[in-house]
Amino acid sequence: MNLLTKVVALFAFVLLFASCGGSSETSQNEEKPSSRDEIRLKQYMVQGAKIYSTYCANCHQDDGKGLAALYPPLAGSDYLMENFARAACIIKNGQAKEIVVNGVTYSQLMPGNPITNLEVAEVLTYVANSWGNEGGLMGVKDIDKWIDACVEE
Ligand code: HEC
Repeated sequence: MNLLTKVVALFAFVLLFASCGGSSETSQNEEKPSSRDEIRLKQYMVQGAKIYSTYCANCHQDDGKGLAALYPPLAGSDYLMENFARAACIIKNGQAKEIVVNGVTYSQLMPGNPITNLEVAEVLTYVANSWGNEGGLMGVKDIDKWIDACVEE
């Protein structure tokens, strides 16, 4: 091989290598968001379960079914599943007005919780994806937005 052939061969090799690297990076990027979300969903479920048993289970119970006419259910709750922004505000700030959950009226006070927005994301992810609920991941960016927009009720 003369020098020119060697240089051309080396150049071709480098090009091939670069384009391989490039294309595998693109396909990784395409997969990343969903697998990242899946991992985060699992993490939030684990953390959320701990927060739930510390801050919520007293009233809403371990099985999420609530307690008689006092505490509304989270399991299968139409009220929870129809508006996650509202749920984030209730979890953070509490609520005392009359509401109807699955056709039953509740009007006891739920106190606010001294937890961070990340913890709200975790516990909301937990309640929205437990006991048959399927709400998906509650990202902390959405929680920040929702909590900034909470109205006093
Ligand atoms: C002291 C008891 C108590 C605790 C502790 C409590 N809640 Fe509640 N929760 C209530 C009551 C009472 C209501 C109904 C409030 C109303 O009438 O406006 C409610 C309402 C809700 C609702 C909306 C109604 C529904 O059933 O979908 C959600 C969601 C909710 N709570 C989630 C939580 C989460 C998550 C926690 C823990 C971070 C928690 N709550 C802690 C008593 C409690």
